[in-house]
Amino acid sequence: MTQRKSAVILGAQWGDEGKGKIVDVLSERFNVVARYAGGHNAGHTVIISGKKYVLHLIPCGVLRPGCLGVIGNGVVLDPLAFLNEVKMLKETGLPVDGQLFVSDRAQVILPYHRMIELAAENAPGRTKIGTTSRGIGPAYEDKMHRNGLRVIDLLNHSLLRTHIQNACHEKNTIAHALFGTEPLDPKQMYEEYARYSDQVAPYVTDTAELLNRSMKEGKSIMFEGAQGALLDIDHGTYPFVTSSSSTAGGAVIGTGIGPTMIGTVIGVTKAYVTRVGEGPFPTELHGEVGEELRRRGQEYGASTGRPRRCGWMDLPLLRYSNMINGTEWLVVTKMDVLDTLEEIPVCTSYKINGKVTDMIPADMRGFESIEPVYTTLKGWNSSTEGITDFEKLPKLAQDYLNFIEKESGAKIGMVSTGPDRDQTMTLPSFATTLDTLGKAAS
Ligand code: IMP
Repeated sequence: MTQRKSAVILGAQWGDEGKGKIVDVLSERFNVVARYAGGHNAGHTVIISGKKYVLHLIPCGVLRPGCLGVIGNGVVLDPLAFLNEVKMLKETGLPVDGQLFVSDRAQVILPYHRMIELAAENAPGRTKIGTTSRGIGPAYEDKMHRNGLRVIDLLNHSLLRTHIQNACHEKNTIAHALFGTEPLDPKQMYEEYARYSDQVAPYVTDTAELLNRSMKEGKSIMFEGAQGALLDIDHGTYPFVTSSSSTAGGAVIGTGIGPTMIGTVIGVTKAYVTRVGEGPFPTELHGEVGEELRRRGQEYGASTGRPRRCGWMDLPLLRYSNMINGTEWLVVTKMDVLDTLEEIPVCTSYKINGKVTDMIPADMRGFESIEPVYTTLKGWNSSTEGITDFEKLPKLAQDYLNFIEKESGAKIGMVSTGPDRDQTMTLPSFATTLDTLGKAAS
């Protein structure tokens, strides 16, 4: 039987939990890092020796020499965004050729997807989602409508030309009729995308075959989630979600690996909670404390630069996230951002219409009725920055983490105490798990 040397790592809430750094730190334990959902709406910031890299589409694994990066079939690929990232990585001297692979079955984002999204987001009578305006939703709509362009078809110029002609005819008509949008020129679009197609071609392969073969050969794979579990199209705070399956289950669909091949699931959560874009956020802080968290945590979206909304740790939400993902391990990031607080409220349950509950509402009305019930823990009020040993954390910081672990039901495996690779602690039991799931640390 093939060994399950694999882990799914994903954001436990609404994205931006600091996964980029954690994937980067963990990637030394894995031979392959594969993205399974979303597109260049994601933003993964990694700081290595003081230099900042922001990746939107390409998995962070490529920053480690010898680690393969895979863009799976569940991803929507914007060829231009992809080529720009490849260029940026090459200019930085990072090896990409022979280390980066794109699924032939991934869907392609084309300019009319952005056109439709921008028009629809601002149209009267539509719920404004606050999307990243990258054309993600309309590209997934076309996929489900069985009307999308797959990477394999992007590579065939004659198919590409016909697809663009037909699609532009349809999308231009719709966008003009509904939103008064100016039409896009299919000829110009074809010429541009035929050029991109030739440049993307060397990276394209059957990545499901590549991943399954790698596992058979005993290689270890990390499935890198994008966005966050609560932005999942089915399980998230619908309609304020993204258009793909960002939960752990998406790793199976979005890469072509069977469910029995997943070794474990690791959820990344900040020591508090943030969200960009619209949608419910029960523990959101509106006053000075929220501002202070935003300032100390530098909470601005990596993709759009929008200020992130900030709030306290929400345990009902984390428990829900752990349940739908089957999360076994938690990684807590940005612990040091809480260093200056005298007291730290943590939401332990919700009150909805006077009734205390742990259930996550399915609808927006339910979310609007939530009154968070808080337990206030004492702040440690001293610096945790750069501490890499759990025992060296202030006792009250240890208490905070132990409380989250006990209440959320998942074990804390790592804690991040600063933006750099080295400002990370790995707890012994998690290190042992990594020894069995991944390869030896180099
Ligand atoms: P879309 O994915 O661009 O359609 O945006 C849908 C929602 O998901 C918006 O609220 C976005 O702000 C949010 N979103 C999409 N990608 C990310 C991400 O990587 N981090 C955080 N939020 C995201």
